[in-house]
Amino acid sequence: MKVLVVFYSMYGHIYRMAQAVADGAKDVPGTEVVLRRVPETLSDEILGKMGALGAQKAMAHIPVCTVQELPEADAIIFGTPTRFGNMCGQMRQFLDATGQLWAKGALVGKVGSVFASSATQHGGQESTILSFHTTLLHQGMVVVGLPYAFAGQMRIDELTGCSPYGASTITGGQGQRMPSENELDAARFQGKHVAAIAAKLAR
Ligand SMILES: Cc1cc2nc3c(=O)[nH]c(=O)nc-3n(C[C@H](O)[C@H](O)[C@H](O)COP(=O)(O)O)c2cc1C
Repeated sequence: MKVLVVFYSMYGHIYRMAQAVADGAKDVPGTEVVLRRVPETLSDEILGKMGALGAQKAMAHIPVCTVQELPEADAIIFGTPTRFGNMCGQMRQFLDATGQLWAKGALVGKVGSVFASSATQHGGQESTILSFHTTLLHQGMVVVGLPYAFAGQMRIDELTGCSPYGASTITGGQGQRMPSENELDAARFQGKHVAAIAAKLAR
């Protein structure tokens, strides 16, 4: 049973969440977890102007995903930062290259799930995940979120991301806040939850 965690991260927040999602998925016996980045669409010059080169260097060892890898997985968990309340352009471009897979129904019946990040608390985490689900449904995927069985969902004693739609983290306007323990717990929960459902479907 194979779980693919595929993400884009400009400053490293989604990368940290992706590592936690992968750790959670590995908790399900018999699960192989593959971590991949989607291709970058911005030049180094632009990334430099956006102050992202250091973070990009830290992720450079993660292999870049090809669309051909998607049908090889039983479950695919996507991670994206919010861009104006939607997924980032890099992820959109990657998904827009999956038309051939759609035509063949290559992803039909696979489990799909999404996690996200945004700078501000109400800056579009939920809309990013929910609008992402539309693409997964067009591909015929079985959409899985982050149920309230994850108790950290109910926390109000500290600032936290997460919703029933998926794990998420709040980064702060300057990216100064890395994922909290609660948000990482959510990411691990989601990874394990998806892998457990995929294992049942693969039986
Ligand atoms: C073009 C652009 C649009 C963005 N739009 C939003 C937004 O709508 N709401 C928000 O809270 N943050 C927004 N952000 C902040 C990013 O979501 C934030 O930098 C990202 O979640 C950090 O995750 P990463 O380090 O994994 O890239 C935006 C950033 C950029 C560059």
